[in-house]
Amino acid sequence: MCHAGTMERRRGDSYLGKEFSEPAGLPEDVHVAKKIQCVDCHETGPGGMGHINRKATCQDCHIEIEQAMAESVHKKLACAACHVKVLGGYEMTSWGPGEILSKPNPFKKYSLYYGPQEPPILLRDQNGRWMPTKIWPNSAGGIKENIVPKPGITFRWPKGETHDAYALLGTFRVPSGNNNYLAWLQIEEVAHPYGKSRPCGSCHDSETQISRVTWKYFDTQGAEPFTGSQKVVADKSGLQIRDIKATSKIVPMPDGKTISFAAWLYLGDIWKTHGDFSIPKSDPVKYRSFSKDLRTVQARLKVIDRQLMKKESRGDDVKKLRRKWKEAKAVALHEPGSAETLLDQLGILVQ
Ligand code: HEC
Ligand code: HEC
Ligand code: HEC
Ligand code: HEC
Repeated sequence: MCHAGTMERRRGDSYLGKEFSEPAGLPEDVHVAKKIQCVDCHETGPGGMGHINRKATCQDCHIEIEQAMAESVHKKLACAACHVKVLGGYEMTSWGPGEILSKPNPFKKYSLYYGPQEPPILLRDQNGRWMPTKIWPNSAGGIKENIVPKPGITFRWPKGETHDAYALLGTFRVPSGNNNYLAWLQIEEVAHPYGKSRPCGSCHDSETQISRVTWKYFDTQGAEPFTGSQKVVADKSGLQIRDIKATSKIVPMPDGKTISFAAWLYLGDIWKTHGDFSIPKSDPVKYRSFSKDLRTVQARLKVIDRQLMKKESRGDDVKKLRRKWKEAKAVALHEPGSAETLLDQLGILVQ
């Protein structure tokens, strides 16, 4: 947690949330309160605790949900696709002249543009699985050569060791700027903090995905703190950052040049790449039937819950049945179809 930043996504402060998140005050992961540790989900590597692997497992505790999900219309979704709703860390970088270790340097990274991004944008990973991602614009001035853009997104590890990607947008000239500006979109898979699921409509009401971002700039160089916002839009025609703007006055420090710490002011609407990044429209018949099944099993769960509560208030020992009920509920919420049999059995047992 020492070096938070966008890199917070690489260190787990998004798991702890609250005062440990950047910005502070983001939700903590639902597992924190249950005293679940990093290594309960993450395997450790050869170096022990300091080397937790980026692979994680839920099986130890939610096996019935994993099994239910494997049968579901959502079998190609990561758990986090529904259960992660807000992200932190930095939302922009602008590399330009400034000071590093008190010496002038053409590549100072102005990156303290911190804020929440909500909700995550869903993208397909190398295997076609839908994962939630955090996406933000980057630019680096002082580049001598011309770099041509690469269409679409590129996975850093094509074979799938991680699912992080980027879109290389090429170089752009700014009159009186700092040579060429190399621009790219950073795209990271995210997995904390888990919490309640997003509602169906937040993914299915529109094929276009829009994520809203607000940030505060507070680097020690460049300018006094100021605030701003932008949108990440993913639709049928592409993936882009829209409407980047400051929402309070920018007051440069004595040596601060906006072109260095805020090249985005001059670069305009360049952060975009083509391709289909929409959420496919679901078959309305299937959608209605899935929603109806959900309502049916939930109503049945309620009936059994009442019967169990009656028994519990009489002091009957129904711990086993209660456990079964919880399991049936967890399954029902993810794949109502496969909960039917469990509910039939439970219904008979509680009689
Ligand atoms: C409830 C299970 C769970 C717990 C507990 C957990 N993680 Fe994770 N974490 C995951 C999953 C799932 C991923 C995504 C794995 C992948 O990329 O394949 C992940 C990803 C990560 C990543 C990659 C970046 C990101 O945000 O996606 C880091 C770093 C990380 N975890 C660190 C930690 C640290 C440090 C802790 C404890 C403070 C922790 N995790 C606790 C499940 C967990
Ligand atoms: C060591 C056990 C353990 C592991 C491992 C674990 N969980 Fe959990 N999880 C829990 C407990 C306990 C709760 C509290 C709620 C409950 O009683 O089910 C919980 C709750 C949740 C919730 C709460 C959802 C809500 O609506 O409140 C989600 C989502 C979740 N876990 C996802 C995961 C995912 C995804 C993984 C794997 C990356 C994982 N968990 C790994 C024990 C675990
Ligand atoms: C399509 C969206 C979606 C996906 C994908 C998804 N869930 Fe859920 N999950 C829900 C909804 C909806 C609920 C009920 C509302 C809530 O508690 O968030 C839920 C509830 C839960 C709960 C709480 C169960 C309870 O008894 O209250 C846990 C634990 C959980 N999910 C774990 C997982 C795990 C683990 C995965 C991946 C194997 C997963 N979910 C994938 C939508 C999803
Ligand atoms: C986090 C985003 C997300 C949430 C929340 C979500 N879905 Fe989905 N859903 C998807 C995606 C993405 C697909 C496409 C999966 C694929 O490519 O296999 C999908 C597929 C489906 C399908 C299959 C569509 C078809 O034509 O085959 C149905 C039905 C569906 N969802 C219903 C629901 C319902 C009902 C809810 C709420 C309980 C829900 N979804 C919640 C993202 C979501």
